[in-house]
Amino acid sequence: MVDWTDAERSAILGLWGKISVDEIGPQALARLLIVFPWTQRHFSTFGNLSTPAAIMGNPAVAKHGKVVMHGLDRAVQNLDDIKNSYSALSVKHSEKLHVDPDNFRLLAECITVCVAAKLGPAVFSADIQEAFQKFLAVVVSALGRQYH
Ligand code: HEM
Repeated sequence: MVDWTDAERSAILGLWGKISVDEIGPQALARLLIVFPWTQRHFSTFGNLSTPAAIMGNPAVAKHGKVVMHGLDRAVQNLDDIKNSYSALSVKHSEKLHVDPDNFRLLAECITVCVAAKLGPAVFSADIQEAFQKFLAVVVSALGRQYH
């Protein structure tokens, strides 16, 4: 189990209350597909991903970005049991979707960038980033657990 300090808990919950998952999710997934283009191979049914503008305007990317970010909501609500709350999702990404688990870390990076850009340095201060970074690292580790 992860040890969260009270300050980390309130930082994570506070940050989550300041962002819209439906705004950050599409932005973060679009960034993943642009910055790390090899991740596009998993989204061949999503239509036009040929340019950054096409990716950012692609409704399937936006829709799935929301799904992913709502998936993170589950972790925020279960900070003390992130590992178990992601076991089925980990199996799915491993055995059905065949997503390389290193890509979870890349998406976490894109989410961090989008949240930082949205909130700015006064709100997304270094101590808030510390808590959020730890949160995402736990999520990434939990999603990678069912890989063999
Ligand atoms: C599906 C969450 C990272 C590729 C999903 C679903 C969720 C989810 C909730 C829907 C599962 C269902 O319908 O049962 C997450 C979370 C991630 C993450 C929380 C990391 C923070 C990634 C990454 C990739 C990826 C990095 C690929 C590079 C996919 C694909 C699907 C999927 C291809 C199925 C899409 C479809 O409906 O066709 N993910 N995901 N995911 N995910 Fe992830």
